[in-house]
Amino acid sequence: MYESRVLSGMRPTGALHLGHYHGVLRNWVRLQSEFPCLYFVADWHALTTDYQNPGDVQKSGQDMVVDWLAAGVDPSQATLFVQSLVPEHAELHLLLSMIAPLGWLERVPTYKDQLEKLSDRDLATYGFLGYPLLQSADILIYRAKYVPVGEDQVPHVEFTREIARRFNHLYGRDAGFEDKAKAAAKKMGAKKARLWHELRKKFLEQGDGEALKRAQALLDGQQNLSRGDLERLYGWLEGTGKRILVEPDALLTEASRMPGLDGQKMSKSYGNAIALRDEPDAVTRKIRTMPTDPARVKRSDPGNPDKCPVWPLHQVYSDQARRAWVREGCTTAGIGCLECKQPVIDGVLAELAPIRERAQTYLDDPTLVKNILADGCDRARRLATETMRDVREAMGLLYS
Ligand code: TRP
Ligand code: SF4
Repeated sequence: MYESRVLSGMRPTGALHLGHYHGVLRNWVRLQSEFPCLYFVADWHALTTDYQNPGDVQKSGQDMVVDWLAAGVDPSQATLFVQSLVPEHAELHLLLSMIAPLGWLERVPTYKDQLEKLSDRDLATYGFLGYPLLQSADILIYRAKYVPVGEDQVPHVEFTREIARRFNHLYGRDAGFEDKAKAAAKKMGAKKARLWHELRKKFLEQGDGEALKRAQALLDGQQNLSRGDLERLYGWLEGTGKRILVEPDALLTEASRMPGLDGQKMSKSYGNAIALRDEPDAVTRKIRTMPTDPARVKRSDPGNPDKCPVWPLHQVYSDQARRAWVREGCTTAGIGCLECKQPVIDGVLAELAPIRERAQTYLDDPTLVKNILADGCDRARRLATETMRDVREAMGLLYS
């Protein structure tokens, strides 16, 4: 089997904050050393909801990439690119739109949710309805196996699996599909091929999931079969057709442990965020002016950390001993709130210092980011082109 690719995208929102860092970005950084990873600026996705006010998409995309790099995303390990600079995404989106049932799109849970939430905009558009399909194209065009996303996006990955299955079912049965699959199985050697056929039968006739896994594992271990043969066998095994598009799995990103300054989810639009590039002075001021347990009106009033938005920050930045000190000091009015906040301030500043420093390198020389994205786009395009060749061929569009 070829290596499992990871793909994820983020809408260009400009400067990122600590919530992104503790949720998404640290996860991306961890994955980049384990898998070939592709991370991209989802600029077309931003237009599906913000077409009336696109703003400076290029600038906010580049700012966001500076923050990815500052957080430790490494362009020598991961491929970083911009969606709209790999126009093959649009071609695949168009071709998939031919087979995407309207009912499936209307039933995606984010569709109605967002329509209600963003009621100030006119989202009765074709682009907005089709946005999960655009996301499917983003994923399928790289044959990505893993898609790190937050909980709200899991239905989109599920939808993508269904689209891939439908595509493979419709177009994976080239002339002589079964004969070719049987011939491919023979190449595993007589003994393995026999075992494999038995496992396939067990799965297809009795729904034996264990047999499916073992049969897939057998294919995973094959080194002497061509990719075309392998995809035929994976597809034949699952009862679809040749596996032209790969069904991805969601890698659920844990919710960020980093709440906002008011205890709500950290978000730029709530005004409760610490940006990754906030100056130390601003960070200090933001934390010093954070609300605390409202019961502590005077320094001598005891408080309760469970009712204070500073407490969750201690869970991110303080060890056991420090947390015990907070509990004791707060509930007995032994410490003041500013005293209590100081270790959090120190923790945030220590975390942000190397991030700010790395960001500065990229801010000082904007061509660095441009070059990283240009390289990334090249690499992404090469991979996308390979898939599109197979997709065009499957749909009868390979002109020579
Ligand atoms: N839809 C995602 C969001 O709004 C961003 C996104 C676009 C994405 N394409 C993707 C995420 C592909 C993962 C994979 O957050
Ligand atoms: Fe919050 Fe700390 Fe003040 Fe207690 S002492 S109310 S935990 S800031």
